[in-house]
Amino acid sequence: MNNGGKNLILNNWVLDINIIYHAQKMHDLTSQLKKDGRSIGFVPTMGALHAGHVSLIEKAKAENDIVVCSIFVNPTQFNDPKDLENYPRMPEMDIALLKSAGADIVFLPTPSEIYPNGPQLLAISLGFMEEIMEGAFRPGHFRGVATVVNRLFEIVQPSNSYFGEKDFQQLAIIRKMVVLLNHTTTIIGCPTLRESDGLAMSSRNMLLTTEQRKAAPLIYKAMEMAKEFIPHHSPAAVIALVKRYIQKSPYLSVQYFELVNPYTLEDISNWEEGQPVQGCIAVLTEGPRLIDNTRYE
Ligand code: PAF
Repeated sequence: MNNGGKNLILNNWVLDINIIYHAQKMHDLTSQLKKDGRSIGFVPTMGALHAGHVSLIEKAKAENDIVVCSIFVNPTQFNDPKDLENYPRMPEMDIALLKSAGADIVFLPTPSEIYPNGPQLLAISLGFMEEIMEGAFRPGHFRGVATVVNRLFEIVQPSNSYFGEKDFQQLAIIRKMVVLLNHTTTIIGCPTLRESDGLAMSSRNMLLTTEQRKAAPLIYKAMEMAKEFIPHHSPAAVIALVKRYIQKSPYLSVQYFELVNPYTLEDISNWEEGQPVQGCIAVLTEGPRLIDNTRYE
């Protein structure tokens, strides 16, 4: 079988990483692998990979026979053309990293492979989930994410799919899309990896200036400090304290900090015994916009 990649021996063993550019070839290959009884672990990415992505690949590797990682900077999820233009792209380094992390197949499609008839956005009802927090500041973003992830699932046909919890709202939306469209893949959320100073790992961190990078760990520090405020303050007061703490830095401006139900994403306006709470934040710098979240049990 010509799979468009290198070194894959079906019915035997995967010897090296395979790079696949065509959606049909990717689909044919995973169809064959699944027919042979192999489970497929899938890690969709937009490239500029870091240790957080490696942790997803490693988990996928431990739990599946074959690991597929896609690298596709999806234009339909960027509401700001400048952000799309500036998004870091480094496919050679990414492929080398994926190889050392043990991925078996890299799917590297062009936009016309993903959107052969032009980008037609998925028409499903995501409800208020796509309009709050990230959705309020990046209109259309989650519709674009749901569209591309649905298309990738159709092509790759994964048994298990791995997403970072750093993009907490994205994960909730993908879970909802999977239910609405009856996808059979199991969605697995993986913990956020942090730098030693607490900054959540992100492909956008490499766009920070030295001053912004020095200031950025305040975001997680402030969210963690909120744990001390919670027993004595209302949700609204905790939000105000966290914002004030971060904005002591001239390099950071909080766009939102919200306390939500981690499953429904509904706003928490009162503390209730036993109710877990997710704090979700977006912070503006003069460069990249940073998001993060943490759980308050
Ligand atoms: O989280 C990302 O990197 C992207 O939003 C995803 C899930 C790969 C879709 O383009």
